[in-house]
Amino acid sequence: MSLNRSWRAELTVVAAGGVALVLLGLWYEHLAVALLTGVTSYLAWHLVQLYRLYDWLTRGCVTPPPDAKGIWAALLCELWRGQRRTRKRKRKLRRALRRFKESTAALPEATVVLGLYGEIEWWNAAAEQLLGLRRPDDRGQRIANLIRHPEFVRRLELGDWRQPLVISSPVDANIWLTLNLVPTAKHKYLLLAQNTTRLQHLDQVRRDFVANVSHELRTPLTVISGYVEALLDHPEARKPPWKHVLPQVHEQARRMRGIVEDLLLLSRLELDRELTSEEEIAVTTLLRQIHKEAMELSGEARHRILLDVDPQLGLRGNRNELRSAFSNLVVNAIRYTPTGGEIRLRWHADTQGAHFCVSDTGVGIEARHIPRLTERFYRVDVGRSRETGGTGLGLAIVKHVVTRHGGELTIESTVGKGSTFTCHFPVRHFYWLEIEPRLEPEPFNPLALTHDE
Ligand SMILES: Nc1ncnc2c1ncn2[C@@H]1O[C@H](COP(=O)(O)OP(=O)(O)OP(=O)(O)O)[C@@H](O)[C@H]1O
Ligand SMILES: [Mg+2]
Repeated sequence: MSLNRSWRAELTVVAAGGVALVLLGLWYEHLAVALLTGVTSYLAWHLVQLYRLYDWLTRGCVTPPPDAKGIWAALLCELWRGQRRTRKRKRKLRRALRRFKESTAALPEATVVLGLYGEIEWWNAAAEQLLGLRRPDDRGQRIANLIRHPEFVRRLELGDWRQPLVISSPVDANIWLTLNLVPTAKHKYLLLAQNTTRLQHLDQVRRDFVANVSHELRTPLTVISGYVEALLDHPEARKPPWKHVLPQVHEQARRMRGIVEDLLLLSRLELDRELTSEEEIAVTTLLRQIHKEAMELSGEARHRILLDVDPQLGLRGNRNELRSAFSNLVVNAIRYTPTGGEIRLRWHADTQGAHFCVSDTGVGIEARHIPRLTERFYRVDVGRSRETGGTGLGLAIVKHVVTRHGGELTIESTVGKGSTFTCHFPVRHFYWLEIEPRLEPEPFNPLALTHDE
């Protein structure tokens, strides 16, 4: 019977009993005695039922509830059903937890459950091997006390896990781990560490191979270029067939030297992932030089090249690397923007950090190519890039340089309308230069020089 129906039945019984007692009391002219007896008996019955319920509850509700009548029968039945449901749910939960623990324990990846403050709550066997966690001492410890790698600690503090982090294992420096942190439930995180030593080793072999080959090619290419340059001055070089052949050989040798230099630069950038030395760079001065060179490079194409900079905004980093990265973006904008197009170089800061933006009104890039642009030798239109002398290494260099400065390169583009390449630098990398306030506004802004002016 449902609790509602039992409740109505109980009220009916109480009302009927009350009426009967009143009638009985009136009949025998002892209304008070009749009512008192009735109420006392009713109360006593409820007390007995209450005691039986209490007894059943304190024994853990493991047996079916005691027999009862009326409202108590319905109440006990409801409680018993609720208990059974809870027990079933608990059993299911325990089974799910056991399955989770069994499967994560068998995982080759180290898996660590972390609390809100990075305190270790649970880990699997692989975490003991790869991260050196020990039972039971490390339970409740903060993970940053056990993995002290500065970049790991920084990422934990900032909660920045957009990219996995590669570090050597705290147990054995020869083991390379790729770490990822994912939020699971409210205030709970899962730290996953995968042993990627083999991959890192293969990557190292590839890097060494590229660096060695590039290095070995450098000398012969310089020699070839030297001889060709000498031959170009020879009177015979102005006669056919050398008239056509030698300039071609000279140009191709120059291109190859460019590729070798770019590959060596990339190898160097990959070798030391972190910036070792930083200097304060007045970016505005650097961008003025790049702007001047860009106008010279644009030449006949007569692009409108605008420079929009915050002169007080400086950057801490490596001047040569940043110069190379910024120039690469500007050269690309010139290469891939048709005659008369507009190119805008912007350097500014906001609460997110400092940003160097190169926007053009050029050919644009299809969305499917964008994620691959920073791969080595990736070119959207190989024929066109070759025509313009491109090898597809420029953006790979830009990405490396920006990443080494703690930043990020973003690319937005619409085919036929143009592209915007932005280097975002974190707040810790920029600073404000002390500049005397200008007394008079300058009538002419040389930074906005264009070919048309
Ligand atoms: N501003 C741009 N507008 C349109 N396409 C671009 C732009 N910048 C780069 N691209 C595309 O991205 C590709 C890769 O650029 P990247 O700078 O890496 O190589 P590249 O310019 O061809 O050669 P280089 O190694 O000399 O820089 C280019 O080949 C081009 O197709
Ligand atoms: Mg380029």
